[in-house]
Amino acid sequence: MTDNKNSANKDSNNQDHYNHAGMLAFLFSISFVLAFFIYIVAIHPGVDLKENIQAPPVAVAEEKAVDVSKVTEPWVENQDMIKHGAKLYAQNCAMCHGNEGKGDGPTGQALNPKPRNLVEGPWKKGGGYIGLYTVLTEGLAGSSMASYAHFKPVDRWALTQFVNSITKVKVAEDAAKVAAFAKTAK
Ligand code: HEC
Repeated sequence: MTDNKNSANKDSNNQDHYNHAGMLAFLFSISFVLAFFIYIVAIHPGVDLKENIQAPPVAVAEEKAVDVSKVTEPWVENQDMIKHGAKLYAQNCAMCHGNEGKGDGPTGQALNPKPRNLVEGPWKKGGGYIGLYTVLTEGLAGSSMASYAHFKPVDRWALTQFVNSITKVKVAEDAAKVAAFAKTAK
């Protein structure tokens, strides 16, 4: 009995020794961590990650307005006009006709008739530059496709060019005929 008790005391004394060493190791690591923390927060100059926060993401840069004010013949295909049209489309048409023109915009789903799938067609007014521009100017009677006559002609031509660029239902048109139409169109 007594022997057991003594050996138990001896064991716990030994454990105290181990804990002492453990405590020293603990204090050492804590002070190391603290010193490192203070170094990082207060002393280290920081790392240049070469991130240029000023530069806009590519997507935003692409949506930047295109200046079409110097385009003299807006009915002639031109990449700047198509880009300008894409921007106007995203702002004014995508809610009904969908981001990709597939007739699946959120606002359009409850409409009857539904917004046209501009990629697949078909066209009530014949499509092509003349048909598309006519729809944008006059709208489509009996539907929620409104007239966009309040848009400047250059903007309606930009929308025409953009829709024509995404549709599979292209129409062969005589350039001279389009030009003659454009000069009399509102
Ligand atoms: C309020 C929803 C709505 C908005 C906004 C809208 N449309 Fe439409 N659009 C329609 C509907 C509905 C039709 C189909 C009408 C029909 O079938 O008679 C249509 C049809 C069309 C057609 C088919 C023309 C044809 O000859 O058949 C074109 C092209 C078109 N829209 C282009 C546009 C463009 C470009 C814009 C943006 C400037 C636009 N739409 C904005 C609802 C909309």
